[in-house]
Parts: sequence; structure tokens; C-alpha cells
Amino acid sequence: MCKCSFVRVASLALLLMVAAVAAQEYDVEEPSNGDVVFNRVRSADVALIFDEKEIVVNPGEQLDLACGVQGNYRYCIWETGPTIYQVEDVYEAVYPGFSKPAVTEGNECGVVITSANIEHHGSWTCKVFAKGSSLVATKNVIVTIKPTSPLLEVDTSRGVLEVSNEEESDVKCSVAAARPAVGIRWFLGDRDITVFADSEETPTDEGGIYKSVSTLRRTFEPKENGQLLACSISHQTLAVTENASIPISVIFKPMEKALSTYYQIVPGNDYEVKFNFTANPVPTRTEWRYGESFQNMAVSIPVPGMDDRYTTNIEDLGDGLYTATLRITGFTESDANQRYLLVVENRLGETQYQVKLSVDEAPIDTLSGGAVVGIVIVVLIVVLAVIAAGYARYRQMFCFASRAESKAYIQDPERNETDNGTANDAVKNSTDHVNGKTDTTVANGNGNLEQTQVEEINTEKKNTDV
Ligand SMILES: *[C@@H]1O[C@H](CO)[C@@H](O)[C@H](O)[C@H]1NC(C)=O
Repeated sequence: MCKCSFVRVASLALLLMVAAVAAQEYDVEEPSNGDVVFNRVRSADVALIFDEKEIVVNPGEQLDLACGVQGNYRYCIWETGPTIYQVEDVYEAVYPGFSKPAVTEGNECGVVITSANIEHHGSWTCKVFAKGSSLVATKNVIVTIKPTSPLLEVDTSRGVLEVSNEEESDVKCSVAAARPAVGIRWFLGDRDITVFADSEETPTDEGGIYKSVSTLRRTFEPKENGQLLACSISHQTLAVTENASIPISVIFKPMEKALSTYYQIVPGNDYEVKFNFTANPVPTRTEWRYGESFQNMAVSIPVPGMDDRYTTNIEDLGDGLYTATLRITGFTESDANQRYLLVVENRLGETQYQVKLSVDEAPIDTLSGGAVVGIVIVVLIVVLAVIAAGYARYRQMFCFASRAESKAYIQDPERNETDNGTANDAVKNSTDHVNGKTDTTVANGNGNLEQTQVEEINTEKKNTDV
């Protein structure tokens, strides 16, 4: 009974689910949209052949207004705003600039405007009169308006756009008016970075003219310093995209670097440390320091400058890259025992670069040498393990088959218990040894005592075992 009611509840639930899904499908059904290519309006024995899709045409281009009729009709007209064009008049060349299409089959009420202009922009209705009825269909004609020039809404007075590498920058690009709205893309150098932008289009009037604003939100990287940021617009009226651009200046405090060691310096010769670093804007203070440790710098030499056997200098390589040099006349062993620090400060902060000078050979690159050997060994071990496992499995199949009778022996409960007991004791013993050892080490820190204690435990355990 219980089972039965469960089945009933389950099937009821299933039925409800099916009903819900069916209902949903019904709801989702939308009225068919205007993109359907040919819309046939039918009345008695007359039908219209009409495409409601809007037409985008540039001024000066030909505008084809197509409208076909199936069946008997009396006459047709085109209406736009308050103006009416009788198709028969058009075919008799009454309206200048309007003409008969080359093919009128399936386009019996079609007209051609030789050169579209702003006045043709708007909705056009084809109206067909038949016996006792009329048929109408409307389409939208967009006569384009060339976009105004794109404008980067930034301070261009410095010729560059200053952006930080630590916070997001907002850059706006706008096009005051265009019909239809323009497409806006962003580029940094050759790279398309439009994914970081949001575009907004606002109608400026009732005539289909839009203002477009695209806002780029992005954090720039120091390595992008000096690249060109461009806002690029595309439009039906433009053969090629139109751009507005500005170079960016990414400002950042001198970039941190790990300790640098210069090797194989020959004592007795002059030696020049050449150290590269990046910073933007230009460093306001640069110093080379040295001393017996990085914490204890005895001497500081400004850059450029000179002190004793040391000469300092800096070279600007452009785009925020600098080379600071420290020239040591007559390098000695004691110079190798010193520690060196290059201190660079700019508007955004100070960074200290640690430098060591060594007479030794550069150490063997552990990654290309040691690491590769290590990786090869690991791979070999893994391969061997896999082969061994495969082999073991292969052998085991034979073992199980041939030792079928020994199973009973293993499963003997008494024997099993004693086996386990012995094993557990053995494990306990070994751990006890370790524990004893650790205890004494921690408590006494005495090697000798540790030995005796362990031995004591050993004998103790042996006794209990016996
Ligand atoms: C410093 O930068 C220059 C220019 O990029 C390069 O030629 C030189 O090799 C660099 N020096 C060091 C030590 O990396």
C-alpha cells in the first residue's frame, strides 16, 4: 500500500511537470517579428508582396521602394508623411527623381528614387486599392547622416594621456551625431581592447540621429607606456574607419626587481656595473650606495657623481627605461665583499635595487641542468612504477588462480587474530622507539642519554613481548 501511494504521487508529480513544461512552451511563443522576408497581406483575391525590413541608404545613392501585388487591383500609391506619390504618375515621369523599376513583375507598385536625400528619410507606406478594399504595408527608410568626428574626452594639453598602473582609468570617446548610430572600437597599439568598453547610444531627436559614447575602463600596465590609444568609429557612410587617438603615459613608481649579481669580475681591472630599471615619470633622485651589508650602507653617491674610485651615471633609453652605471676603477677583492644598492625615486615612490658583485663564475643554471636531470629521473620512476604495477597485476592473476586452496587457511579466524596481534605489536614497538627518542631529545638534548633511554625501552618492550 505504501509502495502504491508512492508510485501514485510520483506519477502525479511527473504529470504536473510535463504540464508545466508544455504550458511554458506555449507562453514562450512570441509573435513573429518583422524580419520575415515577405509579408503577404491578403484581401479577397488580392495580396501584397512586401519586405518590411528597413533600408539604410546613403544620400546620393539609389533607393528602391519595392511593393508587389498578386491579383487584380485598380491602382497604388506610396505615402510618406503628408506626401502621396501615385505609382501611375511615377511611371509617367510626373515626379522628377522618381522612376519606374526595370522589372515590375512581383513589384507592380515599386518605385525608384534615383538619388536619396535627407527628405526621403522616414517611413514609407505602399497602399494598393482593389475592388472593395485596400491593402497597406510600411517600411522604414534610413537615409544616413555622416557621423561627426570622434572625440576623446581627455585632457590633451600635454599631448599624452596620463594613466596609472595601480588604478582603473576611465576614458570616454564620443560621436555627437550620426544616423544610424556609429560603431565604436578601441585599440591600444594594434590590439583591440573593445572588451573593456561599454557603449551607449542616445537619440538626439525624433529623426533617428544618435549620439554615441563609449567608455573604456581599464588598468594599464607599465609595459604599455608610450603606446597609442585609439577610438575607432565605423559607419555606413565611411569607407574606412575614422579615429581619434592619443599616446598613453603609464605612470608607475620605479619597478621592483630581484637581487642582481654580476659575476666573473676580474680584480685589478676597471669594472662597470650596468643596471637597467624602468620608471615613469622621470626619476627625481637616483643614488648608488655601498656598505658591508644591505642594511648598513656607509657611502652614498648621487647619480651622476663621483666618489673615490667610483663614478656613477644614468642613461635615459626612452619609454621609461633607464640604465644606471657604477664604474669602479681598479676592482679589488674587497669591492666584491661589499653590498651595493641603487636607490631610485620618482613622483610615485622610491625603490631600492640590491646588487652583488662577484669574482666567481656564474653558478650553473640549476633549471637547465639540475632541474632537467631531476625531471628525467622523476619521469623514469613513474614509468618504472607503471610497468611494475602492470607486471604485478599480471602476476597476481596467476597467483590467485594457483593458490585457491590457501584462501581457507588465511581466512581462519583464530589464525587471523594472532597474525594481526603480532603485526600491531611490532608496529607499536617501532613507534614507541621513535617516540622515546624524540622525548629524550626534546627533554634533555643529550645524545648519550637518548641512546640509553632508547635501549631501556627496547628491553622493556622485548620483555612484554615475551
Ligand atoms: C639594458 O637595456 C638595453 C636596452 O634594452 C639592453 O640592450 C641591455 O642588454 C640591457 N642590459 C641588461 C644588463 O639587461
